[in-house]
Amino acid sequence: MKDKARLGVVGAGYVGLPTAAGFASLGHRVVCIDSNRDRVEQLRAGRSVIRELGLDELLEPQRRSGRLQFFEDFEALRRSDIVLLSVPTPSLPGTGAVDLEQVRRAVAAVAGAISQPAVLAIKSTVPVGTGDALAEELRRQGSPLAVASFPEFFCEGSAVYDFFHPSRLVVGAEVEWAADAMRELLEPFRDRCPVLVVDRRTAELVKYASNAFLAMKVHYANTVADFCEKTGADVDSVLRAVGLDPRIGGQFLRPGPGFGGSCFPKDIRALIAMGREWGVPLDLVETTLRGNEMRQMALVQRILARLQKISHPRAAVLGLAFKAGTDDCRESPAIAIVEGLLAAGVTVAVSDPLAMEGARRLLGERVLHAANALAAARGSDVLVIGTENFPDLDLEGIRPAMRTAQIVDLRNAVAAERAAELGFYYEGIGRPALATIPLPVSHPGAGEGECAPLPQGRTRTGTTTR
Ligand code: UDX
Repeated sequence: MKDKARLGVVGAGYVGLPTAAGFASLGHRVVCIDSNRDRVEQLRAGRSVIRELGLDELLEPQRRSGRLQFFEDFEALRRSDIVLLSVPTPSLPGTGAVDLEQVRRAVAAVAGAISQPAVLAIKSTVPVGTGDALAEELRRQGSPLAVASFPEFFCEGSAVYDFFHPSRLVVGAEVEWAADAMRELLEPFRDRCPVLVVDRRTAELVKYASNAFLAMKVHYANTVADFCEKTGADVDSVLRAVGLDPRIGGQFLRPGPGFGGSCFPKDIRALIAMGREWGVPLDLVETTLRGNEMRQMALVQRILARLQKISHPRAAVLGLAFKAGTDDCRESPAIAIVEGLLAAGVTVAVSDPLAMEGARRLLGERVLHAANALAAARGSDVLVIGTENFPDLDLEGIRPAMRTAQIVDLRNAVAAERAAELGFYYEGIGRPALATIPLPVSHPGAGEGECAPLPQGRTRTGTTTR
């Protein structure tokens, strides 16, 4: 039987680590390089460096068996058959174009380490044409490396699952031997999903086209939610029905505070910059990005409206990461909202079961860091739900601790009726606000203290008092 390809993975981050551990578990010898010495040492010692469901369990046996090894020095890659590059490609300030500095440095270091023909597969999200430019540069230097594009579609929080259950695998390669090497690498996935082998530029664009479409879907859901708020329709039912159409599909239709994270905003900015460079109008994508930014400002105003008549208002924000189940606060809508509240002079207490470290880095001591939801809520005038990270929120315990019992639920994560029954004013996204108000006796089936939707959503205020 033919030996399995020896792999190199450059970048031990959210993409690189699950990829390295995943391929090691499929029997490959994997050398993983990271320029951060501390990270390499931690990984060698078997300590976790990122929070990712199932990752430590996947990593540990591979590390112990020696199939997966960690190094700082690129020299360790010298016998690799395929190197997967997964280093960050951040946005450049101003234009939103991609900063390829880390990619260029890593490619040069890989080329310096490998002198036999090998595939260099770029997993980092790079603008269309980057692979061609890198290949040309390597050819000029006389390097035998073949550049391929191998975009990644992992979601944070489910990267390990996504590694083993991809919806599709896309490889862009220009030379047949490189395409064949990648096909062989991906052989175990052939019965799980389509493996598309295309040219490099096509593969590079697939990533941007996918992420922009998903972000547009989220933004569209949020626009429908706005419409529901004005008209009294219920967004959850509307979008459920919309998503049941198989032509549309139900995923990425959850309304909320807007999209964030390390990919969507950055990739959309990059796509817009590429559109300008290539002279392609991308109105839909531009509107999506602008609309998403405006949404966060509008939500700050919505929260401030709840605090209008309160002196020295205090808000508790629960859930700070860009989505539930992760510690990643990069471009988090919840953080943007905290910033907006702080700018308006509101005292803010924050809590998140996973993301306190990230939040501290971004917000410092400008906010009160609370150990749990109750501590954050104590003395607050509004509870803002930033992510679904608080599934067992003890509203009954929290209610008496708050100064003003109000909830603005940016993820529709709280049981609205229950909250209103407990005496909260409750406001979600795209659904009528609720509060416990005495209904007129003639109202069929209504009794004192029952929950009733407030007519015209949020137009009626002041139903909860201190
Ligand atoms: C995304 C892509 O899904 C993934 O394929 C790509 O490789 C990297 O970027 P990720 O950044 O982990 O993954 O987050 P994702 O789960 O896609 O969510 C992105 C943002 O959209 C989050 O802020 C999330 O809260 C928001 N979102 C998502 C919604 O508001 N509603 C939805 O229905 C789905």
